[in-house]
Amino acid sequence: MYDVIIIGSGGAGLSAALSAKEKTNKVLVISKTYPTHSQTVQAQGGINCVLDYENDSISNHLTDTYKSSKQLGNIKTIKKMCESAQETITWLDRLGVPFSRDTSGNIAQRYFGGTKAKRTCYSSDYTGLKIIHTLYDNCIKKDIEFLNEHSLIDLIIKNKKYLGINVFNLLNGEEISLYSKTLIIATGGYGNIYSTHTTNSISTTGDGLAIAFKHGIKLSNLEFIQFHPTALKGTNTLISESARAEGAFLIDDEGKRFVDELTTRDEVARAIKKKIDNGENVYLDMRHININIIKEKMPQEKKLIKDIMNLDLHKDLIPIVPAVHYTMGGILTNVSCETSIKDIFACGEVAQNNTHGANRLGGNSLLEIITFGKIAGSNAAEISLKKEIAIPKNIASNTINSILKKKIGKSIYKIKNELSEAMFAYAGLYRTENDLDKLNLLIEKFEKEYKDSGIENKSKRYNKNIIDYIELGNLLLLSKLVCQSALKRKESRGSHFRKDYEQINKEYQKISTFQNIKGKSEFKLEEPL
Ligand code: FUM
Repeated sequence: MYDVIIIGSGGAGLSAALSAKEKTNKVLVISKTYPTHSQTVQAQGGINCVLDYENDSISNHLTDTYKSSKQLGNIKTIKKMCESAQETITWLDRLGVPFSRDTSGNIAQRYFGGTKAKRTCYSSDYTGLKIIHTLYDNCIKKDIEFLNEHSLIDLIIKNKKYLGINVFNLLNGEEISLYSKTLIIATGGYGNIYSTHTTNSISTTGDGLAIAFKHGIKLSNLEFIQFHPTALKGTNTLISESARAEGAFLIDDEGKRFVDELTTRDEVARAIKKKIDNGENVYLDMRHININIIKEKMPQEKKLIKDIMNLDLHKDLIPIVPAVHYTMGGILTNVSCETSIKDIFACGEVAQNNTHGANRLGGNSLLEIITFGKIAGSNAAEISLKKEIAIPKNIASNTINSILKKKIGKSIYKIKNELSEAMFAYAGLYRTENDLDKLNLLIEKFEKEYKDSGIENKSKRYNKNIIDYIELGNLLLLSKLVCQSALKRKESRGSHFRKDYEQINKEYQKISTFQNIKGKSEFKLEEPL
């Protein structure tokens, strides 16, 4: 029996683990891959924190975040994040994150979109990667227990009481039950509902959300999907916002700039998409940026552009497209990271804690996941220390055997690709009722095909197809909920743009929620927690 089980080993999960470990030794982290494979590495450009109080302030950070959320954030949560930022950065600095420094030795800061202040701390353009490696090193130092290559299959909840989880061991195909007094879900977002149009790694499949939803845990704001403006055309590889922050231009076929490169991501991405839909190309132009700035601040972008496109950013224009980068929706949590079921917490991209609202500011994701990861770990550990429960009887799960017994049917990989193309076409940067209705029907068709399909490889040993099958079920469920939420929000707000309702509408200044009540999905518009 553990005190705290954490599912997910990205920035949020590892921060939660380190903070829980300060209060109890009985902490277990479960990762479906390996900790350093996390999506956190895609936050390349930096982490927001006010350090220069002469030119910036916490209240500016709060206002920028709330404005960018298009009034859907909760001031209390945003305030918590902004006010804790310096403590969060100091914590990371002390753990050993190699932040870039200015000539006086202070942590260097750069501009990012949606603000006029230099507020983004960075580690060249490897910020997320450096953070995740540092957190993992510290977890190892502190002897935190890890179970890698284990996927969440189900939560064990009896009479609304959390007991434990069922996980699948990829190595031998066995299902095991693990018990704990509290659980932290930190499994990341659901970007792979757009699997062919995302900067996300293949494992960002919304497992935590889908499984939580089946157990009646409330989800929220699923319709808000962030497209990052600049991914390499044809590959969806992220080119960090730091490029524009350090002076790169966005230009069209005529070589003209057409948008303020550092306005919020929703607006930049839509301006690019408009050009592309008109048959034009859009390029990132970095040719004028000083070679030493590139060397010092953007070595990764230079390498990616060379390795993937065989282009030289000093001489060539870089063709880009917007790609899904972050999902604002998630498991609804309050400022203490509690979900709608007692003793289950959520943090990181899987959670919707009312910080980002309809549009997240670049650089706020790392800050949010670390800050609330620490809070989740600390709160879960504290509750565990006061809780007494007996180890329940082994609760068997037969998910894997039933998957292996299924006939093959349509390829699950084909279904996944078709789902992604449909999501991109009908629930992308621009949406209409007509398109979303079409999408709904398509998802119903995919669901049916999925139900009638199985996997070819029947082996239990290291059979990744089993996980792919389970993940596709989760992706289909989330796609349906995203589509339905998008249909119901009859307005345009942040990343959710309805061509048939182009204006923001005060009536919808509420968070959307979905809850599974006795097998029925109930949709509501509610005040932020
Ligand atoms: O562009 C980037 O470096 C991404 C940062 C973020 O998503 O916060």
